Amino acid sequence: MNAERRIATAFGVTTISAVALAAVYANGGQPQAEGALLATALGGLAYGFVTWANRLLPPGPVTQQREPVHTEQQAVKEDLDRAQLGRRKLLTRTLGLAAIALGAAAAFPIRSLGPSPGDSLKRTPWRRGTKAVGEDGAPVRADDIPVGGFLTVFPEGHVDSADGQAVLIRLDDGLVAYSKVCTHAGCPVGLYQAESHQLICPCHQSAFDVLDAARPVFGPATRRLPHLPIAISSDGAVFALGDFDEPIGPAYWNRR
Ligand code: FES
Repeated sequence: MNAERRIATAFGVTTISAVALAAVYANGGQPQAEGALLATALGGLAYGFVTWANRLLPPGPVTQQREPVHTEQQAVKEDLDRAQLGRRKLLTRTLGLAAIALGAAAAFPIRSLGPSPGDSLKRTPWRRGTKAVGEDGAPVRADDIPVGGFLTVFPEGHVDSADGQAVLIRLDDGLVAYSKVCTHAGCPVGLYQAESHQLICPCHQSAFDVLDAARPVFGPATRRLPHLPIAISSDGAVFALGDFDEPIGPAYWNRR
């Protein structure tokens, strides 16, 4: 097989492999098959380019003698030009096909990014009127928590909610609630020091001042804990007046 055919065949192999790769991916994917097809597609491309460079491009440097052009030489030259033109067409077409197929296959994994999260990362299950419940799902009453006491609460119906968990603290003058998700790296802020009124994250010892809107006063956290607005119903149950006042969790929200 001459060089042009081998190159065109290599680009054809790339095209077929890339189409097969896209088909495998679209049908649910299979890592081993996808890897083999991608390797074959890229291998075909590499073989085609290397052979093209080695066999069809003129080796350099070349010094060409200028000679008077005779009619016969002119005819030979024209034949050669025509052959080269045909060869170039075949190779550029097969290369174009291979590039399109490979590009399409490469675009498919964009689907793997999944649906856009929208603003779901900025919301939690807390809504106006949502009751605060304990780990057992039972509504929390304001007088369940003594002064200096601290309780983890969840939005009613979402006791497994990671982003909805909040800490309820009784201060001398009432109850306050903050997100339990540390704004440094997302650990649960699980300790409360009643004497200093500080919530402490055990992961890297960030401390948040409960009397100052849960502002970080120590450690790597740079953002305060989001505040959960709450109220107490006539029967003593604690309920939310809305969602947290800021997105919960690590502080990448602040970056612009
Ligand atoms: S996760 Fe809380 S201090 Fe690092």
